[in-house]
Amino acid sequence: MSIINFGIWGLGRIGNTHMRHFSSLTERYQPVAVCDVDATRANEMADAKQCQAYDQPQTFLNDSNMQLVIIATRSLDHAAHAKMALQAGKTVLLEKPIGVTEADYQTLKQANADFPGKLFFLHNHRFEPAFQAILEIVRSGKLGKVHTIKLRRHHQFRRRPDWQSLLAHGGGQLSCWGPHILDHAMQLINAPVKDVWSHLQRINTPGDADDHVKVILVGENDTLVDFEISDAVAIRGTFCTAYGDRGTLICADEKTIQLKYIDPDFELPQITASAEQPPTKGGFGHEESGGFPWQTETVNISTDVNMWDQVEIDIANHLYNAIRNDIPFPVANEDALEIVRITNVIKKQNSQFEWII
Ligand SMILES: NC(=O)c1ccc[n+]([C@@H]2O[C@H](COP(=O)([O-])OP(=O)(O)OC[C@H]3O[C@@H](n4cnc5c(N)ncnc54)[C@H](O)[C@@H]3O)[C@@H](O)[C@H]2O)c1
Repeated sequence: MSIINFGIWGLGRIGNTHMRHFSSLTERYQPVAVCDVDATRANEMADAKQCQAYDQPQTFLNDSNMQLVIIATRSLDHAAHAKMALQAGKTVLLEKPIGVTEADYQTLKQANADFPGKLFFLHNHRFEPAFQAILEIVRSGKLGKVHTIKLRRHHQFRRRPDWQSLLAHGGGQLSCWGPHILDHAMQLINAPVKDVWSHLQRINTPGDADDHVKVILVGENDTLVDFEISDAVAIRGTFCTAYGDRGTLICADEKTIQLKYIDPDFELPQITASAEQPPTKGGFGHEESGGFPWQTETVNISTDVNMWDQVEIDIANHLYNAIRNDIPFPVANEDALEIVRITNVIKKQNSQFEWII
């Protein structure tokens, strides 16, 4: 299978990370061009990777040697840059947040319709090992019908001093980590989202954007996900808990998952609730559940590869398979667009912030 010639647009923190990982897969990807408005960055990277440097985006997009463009510029430019690259005939892998405004949402929806099979969304944290292990257990049915899930993404306590703290530049945790955790939430719900409740706060940030995000989503199947993303928690909360009607999952730290569930072969006896006088001792139901055949299990999450590296390698491999082998890309474009829609609902619920909508 032939190598994909790629270019990176935006050589900041994540652009460098993408270059490192994609170019490490030498049998699949070859860097041929880079573009940054900071010409020094572009030239240095081009020297290191023996490829073409550009500081003018349109000239970069006209490079006929490049098939794939990875867009890692700032958030507010993503939708417009994706449209430009698609119109130049390129395949696009677009960083999250894929769009920030309602106009971005429309632009991407149209681009998705106009350029089928050419637009891919970079929700790399779909491939976090801990999340994948949790998703597999939740979908396996081992816990019965999972009705409530809590996700906590408590970062190291920090006051972020860059543009990601400024709303005028598309910053804030809702836009920064929100797309990743909304993606997790929607995968866990596995049904259309019918209700959204949220409360966003500005706690310690030196900017004007949200640094503490609380969101509750409810699916049409009544599954509820309650998530937090925060820069303002000094002791990290439990990464994930999931409650099913036959068991519970707790993943405290992304390294191990504790499970307690009723043996799948055990059928719960039929009982009815009665309004008769209960006994003076007991009658609370503990006697019955104490006798259930409970199973406990500890699942160790593979730490062979660092999580940050794993998500990059996985998305690169999935993208290759989608482009070269017609294997569907696991991040469906409709799901990614739905994340932009839900994000805009959350913004409207939190009008105390001066969002760019
Ligand atoms: N998926 C992930 O895991 C992940 C991680 C980090 C950041 N991100 C996203 O990636 C984007 C970039 O984040 P970052 O932290 O790397 O930002 P950054 O500020 O470090 O880098 C942005 C780079 O883009 C360049 N640039 C800006 N406008 C340009 C233009 N018009 N043409 C060419 N170059 C341009 C800048 O000079 C800079 O080098 C953000 O939207 C962020 O949300 C995603």
